[in-house]
Amino acid sequence: MTWGRLVTCGRLVIGLLLIVGIFFLTKISFSSRSSPGAMESSIARKLRLWSIPKKYKSMPNAVVCSDAILAEAQAHWADHCATCHANNGSGDSMLGRTMYPPPPDMRQPATQSQSDGEIYYTINNGVRLTGMPAFGEPGDRDMDSWKLVCFIRHLPRLSPDEERRMQKLNPKTPDEIEEERQEEEFLNGGALNQQRTN
Ligand code: HEC
Repeated sequence: MTWGRLVTCGRLVIGLLLIVGIFFLTKISFSSRSSPGAMESSIARKLRLWSIPKKYKSMPNAVVCSDAILAEAQAHWADHCATCHANNGSGDSMLGRTMYPPPPDMRQPATQSQSDGEIYYTINNGVRLTGMPAFGEPGDRDMDSWKLVCFIRHLPRLSPDEERRMQKLNPKTPDEIEEERQEEEFLNGGALNQQRTN
């Protein structure tokens, strides 16, 4: 075979590969409505956990999870994390439901079996190519993130009462604030009217 023919053959093969590549790309969905399969989620989580620097794996929580710290972290979660993760950590929130990948149910063993340091690392560094942002000051001493680890450990035991209290701390749209104001006004007015009639 002459050199010229070889080059033509090579071009043909590259052209064919390009066509096949474009075909597969257009077949892949870029929609975030579907959910990754169990296998994809498990492999992605394993890869992410492997990538966490070794020193974090055995790092104990830098704060003692007292009731006061837990209450603080609970309020922090309701304000900063619940939009995606939901107050109870299930991931069943308006945003969480349609994210790709979705936030996992953190009450389950896949999260709870991670070490404190691993959970801290994810909060403090976020997860690239997902919706999970990085929070707090970089490094291993961000106390707010360590306090959030206390709350994540508490998720499997969260009571309905605690969840109700958290709802009051969730970020609100101006419409919701106005609705609450009107409701309160109505209730106060109702109480006043009742006093007057008594
Ligand atoms: C904008 C949405 C969003 C917000 C806000 C958010 N997260 Fe996430 N988070 C995600 C997503 C999506 C994932 C899943 C990432 C993945 O699949 O690797 C995730 C994963 C995690 C994980 C890993 C869980 C596991 O099982 O490995 C932790 C821990 C976490 N988030 C903590 C937090 C905390 C604490 C906050 C608030 C300070 C927060 N997140 C705020 C979207 C969010």
